Amino acid sequence: MRSKQIYDYIITNIERGEWGAHDKLPSIRSLAVELNVNRLTVFKAYQLLKQHEKVYVKEKSGYYVCPDCAGTAADAVYHTPNGVSALQVTSQLSDIHRIAVEYQFSQAIIDPNLLPNLFLSDYVKKVFDIYPKLMGNYSTPQGDEELRDLLCQYFKRSNRVELNNGEIVITTGAQQAIDLLSRILIRPLDAVLVERPTYSAAIDILRGQGARLIPVEFTPEGYDLEAIERLMKQHRPRMFYMNPTFHNPTGYILPASQRKQLVELAERYRCVLVEDDAFHDMYFHERPPQPLFMYDTDGWVVYLRSFSKYVAPGLRICAVFARKSMIEPLIAAKSLADNGTPLVTQKIFLHYFQSERMQQHLKKLRTALQIRRDVMEEELSAASIDWQWTTPQGGLNIWLRLPNHISASMLLQESLQHSLSFVPGHICDPNNGYQSWVRLSYSLMNEIQIREGMRQLTQLAQQLATRFDFPSYQRK
Ligand SMILES: Cc1ncc(COP(=O)(O)O)c(C=O)c1O
Repeated sequence: MRSKQIYDYIITNIERGEWGAHDKLPSIRSLAVELNVNRLTVFKAYQLLKQHEKVYVKEKSGYYVCPDCAGTAADAVYHTPNGVSALQVTSQLSDIHRIAVEYQFSQAIIDPNLLPNLFLSDYVKKVFDIYPKLMGNYSTPQGDEELRDLLCQYFKRSNRVELNNGEIVITTGAQQAIDLLSRILIRPLDAVLVERPTYSAAIDILRGQGARLIPVEFTPEGYDLEAIERLMKQHRPRMFYMNPTFHNPTGYILPASQRKQLVELAERYRCVLVEDDAFHDMYFHERPPQPLFMYDTDGWVVYLRSFSKYVAPGLRICAVFARKSMIEPLIAAKSLADNGTPLVTQKIFLHYFQSERMQQHLKKLRTALQIRRDVMEEELSAASIDWQWTTPQGGLNIWLRLPNHISASMLLQESLQHSLSFVPGHICDPNNGYQSWVRLSYSLMNEIQIREGMRQLTQLAQQLATRFDFPSYQRK
């Protein structure tokens, strides 16, 4: 770790309000121990901070935050009306979701009309008959054994992989799993690889943990493995957070040929691959390639399989598969977080998952989603505007490039005024790029709403392009 990284770490913490005006910074010795670096490296960082007038020195006492520098920090602290202050935590995605609109293309969730609500309510009754004292019990932090048994048998059968029920932890959604893993794997300033673009909540979680995010380009052809190897050599990342199957936001799939090689790289450079596979069963034609986890023999892949999206977001069930070395700290983190996912939701999910209805539901759902994707594409193609996108073969989103230089943020502002929302590309990018890209989810709105919404969006984009005279918005 270099002095500049420590410099950035301190500036970030001052900006987040961890240290205010005239607060004393940790001593050189204690920070060196905390970050596991040489004292000289910390000393150089402090000297640089002093040179840039971010801190000042008190003779024989230490380094203190300059009031001018801390001034910017006030914005990062949230003050409640009764004067309590808290660190400001960012969740850019939920900020957008919170705005109520008629045409909701920002939330990658499935229309509740397509989910098995009636059947699930049936199972609720059955489950309470089978386990009358269900509400009177905690789950174990690792998760219900019966459910772990079932998932273990299912994945062994469908992927021909060696697995036992001790290698599974049930979490409250994949988002909790990302959060727990980042807590057990990342210390401030650790390098973490993330795809560019990526799931925006993961960026916020990893940044909240103090990670240095190193982007890896994800294209329709996959990753550039040579570039990844260079990054692994140079930065020695602790973790690579990835969503290689019907990736959010792009819908891309990492080809099977790259999966095994990536696991080999992870082993060689001792980097944990966190494989988030929330959309695996949402394919339209062909089944996607096997998860990377199935190639891993040495415990370098942790596999997150959420069922929130296509079974029931309300149940919040995700299975985390990992080898023993990772399972123990994960269980400890899970028990600190919430002592276990509620037993009642695990049992309801268990009984639905093992029923025939589950597979029937998936089949119907794939068809319904494919129709919605087709409708969205039809409307986008019909517009006299030069959008660009790659047809997703599964998942819930279209990743769309707006015509030359139209700003997605400006379009979003206009759209919100017309009760329409989408995700602007820059919040999915650790580098804050993709300013002219948007993520449109086709899974929540019905066909009529998709048609109306896309026509509205096209009109707004055309008006914006004309108003600001963006050069080539027309289809060539
Ligand atoms: C890639 C990805 N991972 C995780 C999640 C969150 O999943 P869950 O609802 O299981 O927490 C989402 C939700 O949109 C997602 O797109």
